[in-house]
Amino acid sequence: MSDPVPWDAVYRTREETALSWFQTSPEPSIGLIVDVIDPSTASVVDIGAGMSRLADTLLDHGCPDLTVVDVSATALRVVERRVGADDRLTSIVADVTEWRPTRTFDLWHDRAVLHFLNGVAIDAYRECAARAVHPGGHLIVGTFSPDGPEVCSGRSVTRYADTELFELFADRFIPISSSGQVHRTPSGTGQSFTWVTLRRRAT
Ligand SMILES: C[S@@+](CC[C@H](N)C(=O)[O-])C[C@H]1O[C@@H](n2cnc3c(N)ncnc32)[C@H](O)[C@@H]1O
Repeated sequence: MSDPVPWDAVYRTREETALSWFQTSPEPSIGLIVDVIDPSTASVVDIGAGMSRLADTLLDHGCPDLTVVDVSATALRVVERRVGADDRLTSIVADVTEWRPTRTFDLWHDRAVLHFLNGVAIDAYRECAARAVHPGGHLIVGTFSPDGPEVCSGRSVTRYADTELFELFADRFIPISSSGQVHRTPSGTGQSFTWVTLRRRAT
């Protein structure tokens, strides 16, 4: 399973605004989320949330029940401090491949986490998502696309087409939509992403 130490070191030693995945506004995530749920009535879990502003944005949309999960305690403390005292926010320091959620959510969001996983860690991720999203709930995942980077933060990644992501989750989730996006890093490089939205099967 993945080692939490390097990720925490990344967040402790580098400026947030210099990280290649930094965004001032969490697009297309928030747009994809409002396409399938009303954030003001939904429970959401952001997997590998890092210091992302998606938490702030969802709370601004009135989200009553938001959980952020990340292996880096440093990143989640920054989100907590930025958001301020807000009992709608729960933060959990955990490796998604080892996390055993004890409740379910209306929506699972992951921007740029799954693509770091390999082999049994992918199976563990799929199992965790199936456990965490209740029937009828949604899964939104963004990974590097086949023409995206092969490496991020010194780690090699798996690049996915939408059909490959749909296939990965096919046993428990029904495809809803997919799209491509080019993320512009703070240094100006374009990174191609694949985004998919799926719905949890009834059984
Ligand atoms: C490329 S960053 C993306 C952060 C955030 N989703 C965003 O869009 O800004 C990947 C994040 O996933 C976290 N991460 C990596 N592997 C993880 C794992 N196995 N379980 C939980 N979080 C993980 C890292 O700590 C980091 O915050």
